[in-house]
Amino acid sequence: MEFNISVIYGDGIGPEIIDSGIRVLNKIEEVYGHKFNIDRALLGGEAIDELGSPIPNETIDKCIKSDAVLLGAVGGPKWDHLKGSERPEAGLLGLRKALGVYANIRPAILFEELKEASPLKSSLIKDNIDICIVRELTGGIYFGEKGKEENEAYDVERYNREEIRRIAKTAFDMAMNRNKKVTSIDKANVLESSKLWRQVVEEVAKDYKEVELEHMYIDNGAMQLVRQPANFDVILTNNIFGDILSDEASAIVGSIGVLPSASLGEGVGLYEPIHGSAPDIAGENKANPIGTILSICLMMKNSLGLYKEGTKIEEAVKEVLKKGYRTGDIMSDNNKLVGTREMTDLIIEEIK
Ligand code: NAD
Ligand code: IPM
Ligand code: MN
Repeated sequence: MEFNISVIYGDGIGPEIIDSGIRVLNKIEEVYGHKFNIDRALLGGEAIDELGSPIPNETIDKCIKSDAVLLGAVGGPKWDHLKGSERPEAGLLGLRKALGVYANIRPAILFEELKEASPLKSSLIKDNIDICIVRELTGGIYFGEKGKEENEAYDVERYNREEIRRIAKTAFDMAMNRNKKVTSIDKANVLESSKLWRQVVEEVAKDYKEVELEHMYIDNGAMQLVRQPANFDVILTNNIFGDILSDEASAIVGSIGVLPSASLGEGVGLYEPIHGSAPDIAGENKANPIGTILSICLMMKNSLGLYKEGTKIEEAVKEVLKKGYRTGDIMSDNNKLVGTREMTDLIIEEIK
């Protein structure tokens, strides 16, 4: 089959991990006889430098017309002096909004092979850890009213019923295909927006009688995640809490370098690792490409209908980890240290 994929390299380690991703796509083409028409689009810092805007119109046009979008990461110190709306990160938020991808799915699964990379002691991770974070992505404090004066600044957290209803529905639908438990994380003891969140989540839950619903305040939730990670199935939460909890969950399962994400809405899906542009290791062939490669796996399954290809990618990653190869971020004693390119070579070799 033939697909049009928009690809955004972005900044920092973006080009390195996207190079890995494109090589995986090429291998899938070769082995399964598909055709991926890869069309590069600019976003973030690279777009500011080349076209003077973090989100050029042509990028939105390209992405909207494609079958799926693959993105590396944006941002870096070079653009940190810019004001909010001109920063690389504003480009990413703008793209999410333009694509209407309100549901950000971030699976945090502890692979048997990566147990040693987890900072948690073995008694806490002896049970299966398979958490699916469902983060609201196009609302909340990221997109509310903002303002900055010399001595005062503000960002408004605002949600309406419909925004909460649709993301809650996504979480319950996911739970139905998993262990039938949703933990909704909010701050309903303080925030009005969280009170409405809880109310609407309760209403949606009525249509999913088989799913157990539990509510947690964010402070407790962040704590329970390290104390009893195996107790979570689906975590449903707002934009900012989901951002923070997903980095926390990534460390529990080994490294921020291994977590993929799928951002879904009514139209085109956006696929990106959860990490950033990692300026501290950019250009050094040190970045873990697994988060990007597993994002391609999510793309295969969620946007392209290529289930066996997606599963093959996942198996290839596990096989390489089983053989003991590791990038620096997931390195333990007795493992073999490899760089971004070598890790990619090894994974590609397993796709056959
Ligand atoms: P970061 O995720 O870029 O890096 C945090 C730490 O994790 C660093 O030590 C980094 O080296 C490490 N790390 C990240 N990805 C890795 C990988 N694939 N392999 C190995 N190690 C990895 O977060 P940060 O330092 O807070 O942000 C850096 C820049 O990235 C900022 O400009 C930020 O705004 C941006 N950012 C972009 C995205 C995105 O594009 N989706 C996400 C988060 C941060
Ligand atoms: C992420 C990032 C982004 C977010 C930033 C770069 C805008 O941290 O994708 O997790 O906060 O959503
Ligand atoms: Mn983040």
